[in-house]
Amino acid sequence: MSEPLLDVKNLNVKFQLSSGDLPVSSDVSFTLEHGKVLGLIGESGSGKTVTSKAILRLLPSVGTAEADHIRFKGRDITALTAHEFDKLRGTDLAMIFQDPVGSFNPVKTIGWHFRAAGRVHPEGHGDIVGDAAEALRKVDIADPKTALGKYPHQLSGGMLQRCLIALVMFSRPSLIVADEPTTNLDNLVERQIIDLFDKLRKDIDASFIFITHDMTIAEQISDSIIVMYAGQIVEQGSAEALMQDPRHPYTQGLVKTARELEGNVETLTEISGEVGTGVWPQDRCRFAPRCPLHEAACDHAIALHDVEGHGEVRCIKAERKEPAI
Ligand SMILES: Nc1ncnc2c1ncn2[C@@H]1O[C@H](COP(=O)(O)OP(=O)(O)O)[C@@H](O)[C@H]1O
Ligand code: SF4
Ligand SMILES: [Mg+2]
Repeated sequence: MSEPLLDVKNLNVKFQLSSGDLPVSSDVSFTLEHGKVLGLIGESGSGKTVTSKAILRLLPSVGTAEADHIRFKGRDITALTAHEFDKLRGTDLAMIFQDPVGSFNPVKTIGWHFRAAGRVHPEGHGDIVGDAAEALRKVDIADPKTALGKYPHQLSGGMLQRCLIALVMFSRPSLIVADEPTTNLDNLVERQIIDLFDKLRKDIDASFIFITHDMTIAEQISDSIIVMYAGQIVEQGSAEALMQDPRHPYTQGLVKTARELEGNVETLTEISGEVGTGVWPQDRCRFAPRCPLHEAACDHAIALHDVEGHGEVRCIKAERKEPAI
């Protein structure tokens, strides 16, 4: 089997707060193949952003990350100097944030950003303006020449997000992390941008980590899915296996709600309780307070384990097929 594009082994992230160390992401391990999309899903506060920022070394100064390894194209990038890593992030690794505004310099035009990106790309662009216009056309911007002359504040949120996606594509990274890129957009624009990602992933030779709290979006766009809960992976596998036959009670609840939303039912199933804010029990199943299947045997740290023909699940009852929620 060929080497995966990204191979993350035992990533742990903590924040050093005045009140003490706060572990926010624990024992995260996964691989991502070339040209594939990994959907990272979980409710707000479950550790999706922190995990991906740790991989891209974008944590705030109070955050520290440790891992057995993070291999990108076979090379352990945890060993890179800050300078080497910055070079990689500007070229081969890229992140698209929820709010595109912060990714642009407000006093520079969109065209300036493309010219700056063109200069740092190792292969270079023979015709920066032509290539930039082509990238903007790919994200369905009808008049790229006009868009290149605009300042960020002159564009709507949806247009600016399209420009950011085009700018990232223009740099031809091998890995793009998109962190809830449609959350701040209205429903129609959200739909258009998701369809755009779906089209682009087939067009370009890049892999994506696509972070979302929306199971339906994850299903549409992903080859494989990771479900995070309280800083841990609770289930991972192919998008198909996970959506058709979810095994962790939390995943079962998410899938059930997604199906209900598609069916326009009047009352949605709720997973009662909430994930909390980072002070999670270390010595028992973290989902226990919300789990209808909880029993005494769940009151110790639960390992993620292989479920034959399915994927990996962090639940002692993962072999049981009937939905708990
Ligand atoms: N700057 C920070 N300082 C302290 N705790 C933080 C900070 N950012 C995130 N956290 C904590 O880390 C946990 C995971 O956050 P995050 O990765 O942003 O969740 P998600 O992206 O899944 O919504 C949260 O419980 C939050 O309390
Ligand atoms: S380990 Fe127990 S409490 Fe945790 S999800 Fe499974 S059944 Fe529920
Ligand atoms: Mg987030």
